[in-house]
Amino acid sequence: MANSILDSDGFVTVAKKKSVKAKRLLNNCPLTTLVAESVELDTCLKSILKAKRDVESSSFYNSFITVLAGVTKELEKSLAEIVCFGLGRISLCKAAQHQLGLLLLLGEQFQCPVEVFDPVFSSLEKNVIKELKLKLSPTNCEGKKKPVLSGGCTLFVFPHCPKELSNNLLYTNWNPRHIEHCILYSNSFEKIRLDIPFRFLKSYHYLLQSQEIVEEVSVPNIFHFLDIFNDLSLHYFPSHLKCNVQSSFWESPEPNYPASETEIVESG
Ligand SMILES: C[S@@+](CC[C@H](N)C(=O)[O-])C[C@H]1O[C@@H](n2cnc3c(N)ncnc32)[C@H](O)[C@@H]1O
Repeated sequence: MANSILDSDGFVTVAKKKSVKAKRLLNNCPLTTLVAESVELDTCLKSILKAKRDVESSSFYNSFITVLAGVTKELEKSLAEIVCFGLGRISLCKAAQHQLGLLLLLGEQFQCPVEVFDPVFSSLEKNVIKELKLKLSPTNCEGKKKPVLSGGCTLFVFPHCPKELSNNLLYTNWNPRHIEHCILYSNSFEKIRLDIPFRFLKSYHYLLQSQEIVEEVSVPNIFHFLDIFNDLSLHYFPSHLKCNVQSSFWESPEPNYPASETEIVESG
């Protein structure tokens, strides 16, 4: 049976329709599945590398590097590692692809490993991560991750993520020795504190208390897509601010979030 298709150039393609049985055979063929998967992987990698070039040629990237260099200089620490949680669907979503592009550029710029995790990653997306030579975290630590401690610091990137992730990161590193090794690029703490009524922030003790010890620098949102790097700031914890707090400030009960408020995907 023949089928006519008018393509976007105006040509008519006459295709012979495959029988249902032939189609079923074709779909079940392991070779066909393999070819389809490798085409999908290739298409996805192309989109991500295009997004990376897009970020690289932007003034946003220049200003990001300048702001970050200022932070590492003030901390007197080099960037030793990048850890990103919550990228989202890197095979489907422009925001996730550009954020991943930024991670790849930062990894090259600072010659350091990049680790990522998002519970939504599909098997295709996990293969993309592997192809790009990034490390995929083996478990869902819910943001409770330690930085590198010897000499350098870790840049944590949580782009537009549930605030539990940032609060958990602070909780895990809530002591003067660990916190100074963390730089966090995430939703602005200041904006969270200003925009969300206090009654909804009671479970976010560390986000609230951090205002005593955090320095927040916003990276101007001048990327041409305005919904990719918006509302994100760099947060770091300089030693002079830590000197001002009492020792009781560092007491750190484990956070507990009411089920009705939780946006994070929990482990197990
Ligand atoms: C609002 S989306 C942000 C997606 C993308 N980064 C963006 O800017 O559009 C929040 C992301 O956080 C991820 N997330 C939720 N719980 C997480 C966890 N425990 N660890 C890592 N990522 C998590 C979600 O799967 C989701 O992809």
